[in-house]
Amino acid sequence: MTKKITIAIDGFSSTGKSTIAKQLAKKLAYIYVDTGAMYRAVTLYAMQQQYISKEQFNKEALIADLNNIELSFTFNEDLGFAEMYLNGSNVEKDIRTIEVSSFVSQVAAVSAVRKKLVREQQLMGANKGIVMDGRDIGTVVFPDAELKLFMTASADKRATRRYKELLDRGDNVKFDEILHNVQERDRIDSTRDDSPLVQAADAIEFDNSDMGLEEQFERIMSLVNDRLA
Ligand code: DC
Repeated sequence: MTKKITIAIDGFSSTGKSTIAKQLAKKLAYIYVDTGAMYRAVTLYAMQQQYISKEQFNKEALIADLNNIELSFTFNEDLGFAEMYLNGSNVEKDIRTIEVSSFVSQVAAVSAVRKKLVREQQLMGANKGIVMDGRDIGTVVFPDAELKLFMTASADKRATRRYKELLDRGDNVKFDEILHNVQERDRIDSTRDDSPLVQAADAIEFDNSDMGLEEQFERIMSLVNDRLA
């Protein structure tokens, strides 16, 4: 049987983690898991139940309701990746809005939420052969991953990427709003008490502010091949 490894990709928001993770998973025929989508789906649920809004966040109500949140991924052949389902509904589009982005870091800071999602993520990766991206994959979810990458890029470059993505989707957004959201999420994600966004000691850092996707992919594939040898 060919050897399979675990690849953990962490880093700041909009650093292109999911793009590279999807490419790697495709090339290696591995499972790809976007853990940010899971935190976003829980956030969407909290918004739907009115546990969170601009005015308030009723953490206790969300925690008491966590057992009623069922998350799953279903592979979409046409898109080439797995889409996020929340209690049986496809929420792939709904979880990418600026509203969800503006609340997700607060929800992701709740320990009970993290505990539930980390457990589910560890089960998905139990047999290796997985590429997982997020904020705490190399530090908390898979501290023994054979390959850990930490992606960074300037806030301006990252906001520009996210802005273009949202415009392409037809969303009516302002660049300054996106830049503010990216910076604010980085601040909350890096300073929360539970599993803050930090680079694992054995992670390899990639600053892709000025690196093309192809170069990045080639470099990472050579690291993967080292681990597989
Ligand atoms: O990767 P993303 O931007 O879609 O993630 C959305 C938010 O979810 C991010 O701001 C922080 C949180 N998150 C987290 O706390 N831990 C993870 N493993 C993944 C995401």
